[in-house]
Amino acid sequence: MFRQAGWDEPIIFNLGKVGRVGYTLPEVEEDVKRAVGNLYTFIPENLQRKNAPKLPELSEPEVIRHFIRLSEMNYGVDSGLYPLGSCTMKYNPKINEYLAGLPKLGMLHPYQDESTVQGILEILYRLERWLADITGTAEVCLQPSAGAHGEFLGVCLMRAYHKLNGELEKRKDVLVPDSAHGTNPASAAMAGFNVVVIPSDEYGCVDIEALKAAVSDRTAGLMLTNPNTLGIFEKNIEEIAKIVHEAGGLLYYDGANLNPILCKVRPGDMGFDIVHINIHKTFGTPHGGGGPGAGPVGVNEELAKFLPVPRIVFDGERYRLDYDKPYSIGKIRCFYGNVAVLLKAYAYILSLGREGLEEVAEVSVLNANYVMQKLKEIDGLALPFNSEKPRKHECVFSAKPLKNKTGVSALNIAKRLLDYGLHAPTIYFPTIVDEALMIEPTETVEKEELDRFIEAMREICREAHEKTVKVLKAPQNTAVQRLDEVKASHPQTMALSWRMYQKKLAAKDP
Ligand SMILES: Cc1ncc(COP(=O)(O)O)c(C=O)c1O
Repeated sequence: MFRQAGWDEPIIFNLGKVGRVGYTLPEVEEDVKRAVGNLYTFIPENLQRKNAPKLPELSEPEVIRHFIRLSEMNYGVDSGLYPLGSCTMKYNPKINEYLAGLPKLGMLHPYQDESTVQGILEILYRLERWLADITGTAEVCLQPSAGAHGEFLGVCLMRAYHKLNGELEKRKDVLVPDSAHGTNPASAAMAGFNVVVIPSDEYGCVDIEALKAAVSDRTAGLMLTNPNTLGIFEKNIEEIAKIVHEAGGLLYYDGANLNPILCKVRPGDMGFDIVHINIHKTFGTPHGGGGPGAGPVGVNEELAKFLPVPRIVFDGERYRLDYDKPYSIGKIRCFYGNVAVLLKAYAYILSLGREGLEEVAEVSVLNANYVMQKLKEIDGLALPFNSEKPRKHECVFSAKPLKNKTGVSALNIAKRLLDYGLHAPTIYFPTIVDEALMIEPTETVEKEELDRFIEAMREICREAHEKTVKVLKAPQNTAVQRLDEVKASHPQTMALSWRMYQKKLAAKDP
């Protein structure tokens, strides 16, 4: 049975005592003087710090124990199964962290002269080439910091393309299927486009007739995830590409679901013009808490001239940064992107090679289909959209039959799973499935762990039918019990920094 630690742990600012020391630094003034010599005296008087910053003062064990206790009340990809559909929360091999943490890489500064950063430029250049090869695109830009950021770059590229063709004024529509991730319409709207939603057909794929009716000379492009968020491969992709291209639009690939097709099929070969890659999902670097991530974007030859600057170029001897790109949309982020995250992806691809990446795709699909077949047997869960067909890396069940019969919802199931020491799947997305449970086991899980999840799901549905209150009151075995989800995400109730916390205290007690 699982029982999470529950410490009554204060925040670090409320720990320690004035004068308590954890680590002794050399005399700062002397040290700085030694390091920068006369420069020190050039810091203007008004910029020199007079008082020490107000930091908590703690001993080393206090710091270590504080963070260990917090970690014991947490659950992460190193704890166990994390089947958060669409998010691809998989185990990240530690060797990637090791490589990214090497001091020779970690101590580099983006303002260093090109001649002194040839090594990292070579790594980034190679990574660009590998990603172009994997996605079937001509050129890749590593700058975006997340999938959504890559999407935003992608739609900005669409805009630049139509502008250069003198068609931007009329091409205002970006088409987005109703199964799309919310960031797709958000990115299109941020780039100034109108969002036109395309319904799914009975098989969970883009409704071709609805697509035909929606495309016109107002179409800037279509944003598509393939396999889509139901885990279903859009089998009509070539026809979709033809429809969009014939109308003068561009085809955008949301690469959040690239892992099940790695080295099997390539978005570029399917007809996509712009592709983003969620590095932090597909290539084994951590994802969560909004970052850090990386969302490189690959494009076909025609669009390459619009990519952000600088571009890394290799003249056969030296790597250099090329800013001389008159059609470039400019910069989308400072420097070369989230380099530490990109380094982990580089290590991941290098360590697995083409065959290893293919195996990633195969096992991610195998695991999802194993779970899907087993869950189909459970009374109360339904698999909408062509339930006889296999899925790719994820499957989306509906808990609606269970809810209708017992009152137990997808949310209740998700909360009860926590009591079993398992992370919950994504719930209520995609929105086209009622009471959705979106399950993505990933390829980094053994069969025994999948069986544990399946057993827990079976047991929870049984509890629901037996009307045990446990499932409605869950979680009980976790560090915190059921949170008020609205309150927890309301900016008025959150104190995200010590300063905010102090302000809140002051407001309560004037
Ligand atoms: C299908 C899909 N597209 C786009 C995104 C956005 O990616 P990111 O979270 O890196 O911004 C996600 C995130 O989970 C996703 O699942």
